[in-house]
Amino acid sequence: MSCSNDSESDISETPNNNETPNDNNGDGENNGDGENKITFTSDILPIINNNCNNCHLSGGGQTNYTIYNNAKNNASTIQNRINRTQGSSGFMPQSGTKLSSSDLAKFDQWITDGKLE
Ligand code: HEC
Repeated sequence: MSCSNDSESDISETPNNNETPNDNNGDGENNGDGENKITFTSDILPIINNNCNNCHLSGGGQTNYTIYNNAKNNASTIQNRINRTQGSSGFMPQSGTKLSSSDLAKFDQWITDGKLE
């Protein structure tokens, strides 16, 4: 048995993601507030705005997930849809590209942290 494993992680990381798991809000910094919880307003809303556009925003015809309570009350359904295989039935964003693994992780963490506003 060889020992060629160099012990580095090959798990892909996004560039500039030098944040701690609980402060991966994409701003490139740890805010040091001792909480670092994922919140809807600072972490989830930008993902919705960037990926669920034209359909789930105000006037889009679908449930408006830019509204905190809508997102909160449907969190497990959203989580289910965005984790489906791209292009499969019910996948969200519909006809779009799967969210990045860091955005998916952020959504999971938001639920874990208690779906804070
Ligand atoms: C191109 C338009 C479009 C985009 C972009 C889109 N959706 Fe949807 N979404 C729909 C349509 C149409 C439905 C209703 C049909 C269905 O349930 O699949 C739907 C349904 C859903 C549902 C099922 C519950 C409900 O509200 O009806 C969830 C959850 C959802 N979308 C989440 C998302 C999220 C999160 C994003 C962004 C990551 C997103 N969608 C992007 C069109 C879209």
